[in-house]
Amino acid sequence: MGLTWHTEERSSDYRYRMTKSKMRSRCLICFGLFCVAGIVLVCLYVYLPISCSNGNCCSNGNCTRGAVAADSEMCSNIGRDMLKKGGSAVDAAIAALICTGLVNPQSMGLGGGSIFTIKDKAGKVTVISSRETVPKTIKANLMSDCAGKMFYHGAQWIGVPGEIRGYKAAHDLYGKLPWEELFQPSIRLAREGIPMPPYLFRFISHPMIKPLITSYLCDLFCHKNKTLLTTKDTLRYPKLADTMETIAKDGPESFYSGTIAQDLIDDVQAAGGSLTMEDLKSYRVRHNDALSVPMGDYTMHIPPPPAGGAILTFILNIMRGYKLSRSSLSGEGKVVMFQRFIEACKFANGQKKSVKDPEFHRVDVSNLIREDFASEVRRLITSDRTHSASYYNATPSREQMGTTHVSVIAEDGAAVSVTSTINQMFGSLIYSRKTGIILNNELGDFCNTAGDIRPGEQPPSSMAPVILHSESLDKTLVIGGSGGSLITSAMALSIINHLWLEKSLKDAIATPIVFVDGSNKVSFEGHFDKNLKEDLLRLGHTDGKRPAESFLNVVNAVVKERGCLTAVSDSKKMGKAACY
Ligand SMILES: *[C@@H]1O[C@H](CO)[C@@H](O)[C@H](O)[C@H]1NC(C)=O
Repeated sequence: MGLTWHTEERSSDYRYRMTKSKMRSRCLICFGLFCVAGIVLVCLYVYLPISCSNGNCCSNGNCTRGAVAADSEMCSNIGRDMLKKGGSAVDAAIAALICTGLVNPQSMGLGGGSIFTIKDKAGKVTVISSRETVPKTIKANLMSDCAGKMFYHGAQWIGVPGEIRGYKAAHDLYGKLPWEELFQPSIRLAREGIPMPPYLFRFISHPMIKPLITSYLCDLFCHKNKTLLTTKDTLRYPKLADTMETIAKDGPESFYSGTIAQDLIDDVQAAGGSLTMEDLKSYRVRHNDALSVPMGDYTMHIPPPPAGGAILTFILNIMRGYKLSRSSLSGEGKVVMFQRFIEACKFANGQKKSVKDPEFHRVDVSNLIREDFASEVRRLITSDRTHSASYYNATPSREQMGTTHVSVIAEDGAAVSVTSTINQMFGSLIYSRKTGIILNNELGDFCNTAGDIRPGEQPPSSMAPVILHSESLDKTLVIGGSGGSLITSAMALSIINHLWLEKSLKDAIATPIVFVDGSNKVSFEGHFDKNLKEDLLRLGHTDGKRPAESFLNVVNAVVKERGCLTAVSDSKKMGKAACY
């Protein structure tokens, strides 16, 4: 009895336990299924196509319609919004540039010049250059002022600003939105103010630059009591807002012959400059076909001289001959690849002097962009040692710096690669109080050519806004850089990293660079691989020991591959791209 009871009790307990464990396992199964479903959903969200249009579906982070990569998120967004409103790639690029003049006034502005490389939706690529030119009258023996200077400060260095006429020429050809609309977001920002951009603050508060700011640009960057604005303050441009409003309403000619022109001239002449109304009136934009060079699977469209496209092509053509691939980065191959790159850059230094304004000099860059010329040079490249400057036909040249870049691809397939500059940081440091414009110091770019310079001539430049397109891969890469002399190395390495070493566009741009300066010294960006650096220096290069803070190379790019867009703004300038 007792037993039965016990048994019963046991069996009931057993049944109970059975039920409990069954329930538990059922719960576990349910929970498991729930988890699997959750994981699947998360995976779907992360990996499966979430943006689709026109039959193209792209993974998260990609877009399908349009993209803008400018120096800052604020300006990338302004460009993207122009696209969303039905604007063209050119509209977006211009609006992003106008904005960049507020966020990075040290790099560019209405007192500078630009080079646009524009691919229309049919695939034709043109170049509109509004690079500054030499005024009718310049200071006697200006080139003797070059000696011993790192910065060309003062009104004697101001070239005739072409920025606004460049926008006008590009907009006349390819604009869809009204001219005025391109200025509206930036006019509002200039009036209402923007939080002091941290990147700009880093410059103006730098011990070497701060005294210059407080002496020359305090109107813009100081409180009333003459102390510098901080990142907690609001940066406003009331004068520039008025100027932009006039240019927006009355059209670009107000800058070249109207009241703005007169105000600008008055201020420049008061600062000792020789710019005249005649210079502004007669400023002429250059409009050319792009040079189109084969680059493996791609055609690369580059701006003609005096821009830096030919030098970039020369380096890329040399490197392409080495048949680079992902495996070039493994083991000893990595040292050999970088050694060859450094040597290619040294040869490029030897070729730089051949790049001048073709309207004023006999300029023939056909060699520089030819593959067989690159092959000849490749035979002179040694992978185990380096040589003295004469081997490369290189004469020392000075460093240039500054500049900004915007890359855009629009929904119709049109693309814009545009680099803009006032030359060095804050240009000539001449600030026109009446117009709110900081004037360029572009004539300093002649210091390397040391020849006669003539009115109307454009100085040589490293700027190389390019567009690479491959029909077979259904891929377009719009890319450009800023940072003066660093532009060529930074762009070449970004392109090599992405196209040939198969790095993602983001990694391609983020990878630290090696830079060969005007004296053929080799410098390595801060976080460049230490062992690799040692291996390379062991081959006999002179370490340029360039300070980390002077690696101001910035690359902004947009790629469209089989319908999917990726836009990357260099994190070094704290930038962020925008797409939709
Ligand atoms: C200058 O003015 C600003 C803003 O009004 C203030 O925050 C700052 O403390 C002042 N500095 C000095 C040294 O007076």
